[in-house]
Amino acid sequence: TKDVYILAIESSCDDTSAAVLQNGKVLSNVVANQKIHEAFGGVVPELASRAHQQNIVPVVHQALANANIDKKQLTAIAFTRGPGLMGSLLVGTSFAKSLALGLSIPLIEVNHMQAHILAHFIEEEGQAIPKFPFLGMTISGGHTQIVLVKDHFDMEVIGETLDDAVGEAYDKSGKILGLTYPAGPEIDKLANEGNPKAFPFPKPKVPGLNFSFSGLKTAILYFIQRQTKENPTFIEENLVDICASIQYTIVNIILDKLKKASKQTGIKTIAIGGGVSANSAIRKALKDGEVKYGWTAHIPKFEYTTDNAAMIGIVGYLKYLRKDFADESVTASSRIKI
Ligand code: KG4
Ligand code: ZN
Repeated sequence: TKDVYILAIESSCDDTSAAVLQNGKVLSNVVANQKIHEAFGGVVPELASRAHQQNIVPVVHQALANANIDKKQLTAIAFTRGPGLMGSLLVGTSFAKSLALGLSIPLIEVNHMQAHILAHFIEEEGQAIPKFPFLGMTISGGHTQIVLVKDHFDMEVIGETLDDAVGEAYDKSGKILGLTYPAGPEIDKLANEGNPKAFPFPKPKVPGLNFSFSGLKTAILYFIQRQTKENPTFIEENLVDICASIQYTIVNIILDKLKKASKQTGIKTIAIGGGVSANSAIRKALKDGEVKYGWTAHIPKFEYTTDNAAMIGIVGYLKYLRKDFADESVTASSRIKI
């Protein structure tokens, strides 16, 4: 049988990425991060789409070069159709359509949220693939979802955020503390040196498996405003304790919902993804859950947890095997559901 080479394109938010997969194995995975947004403390959509426009061709060339294959060898092209920022999605979508047309090969549309979950099916040494059914949890700067995964393409969102994503909760807290964007990694680092019970922050009361993080952000803001009024150097003097307390609250919120989801569904296999799954406290809590609750926890390699084209490529490959191809008239869609 012939080898299947998939070129995958991801451009849903602020990372331009291209990957090449051979029979579902990752040969290359190139990501161009957009530094430009740091100065604004968040992603600026207009700037993101312009940077994608600039990066897409060099990134694709690099992915092909790293995989050591010529574009004429490609079997199909997979791309992120949505959800995401419309201007960003349009760049990847138009590029993928044009290249597929030029090479006369099939085009495969990929749902970004499915891809975060199916990233666990990328074969990696020492990495087990989750068994169905499992609970997928995608936590990043843009997403907070618990997904019941019955099969590759049979998924159901059973919990999601009603306002801010968990990564946003980290980043907005960091902004209040004067940390640079994105603040998640730094809060995580500082938290490990502080007392998690120094400052109790309220946990939101949200029914079911849904999340809310905007109340926490406001509580932190008011707390810091009150404290610095009395003591202008309150933040500097207590930074590690503040970070530890924020992290403790956020991780508790996530763990509570995961435990609830596991109890409700009777499923003990849990697979996490998204940039926030790099968080040390979340990783530790999942590992502890293996002992405490009999969970089997799956945490993918870091390069496959943040936005990347390899995860788009694995979905592309799974769809290729099903001959599930996109129509030539396919358009980007910023709000498609799982
Ligand atoms: O997946 P990602 O790279 O981009 C998207 O948002 O799609 O995730 C970035 C988010 C940011 O909000 C960042 O602050 C957060 O992930 N993050 C972390 C950690 N590393 C990254 N949050 C908490 N702890 C970390 N170690
Ligand atoms: Zn994402």
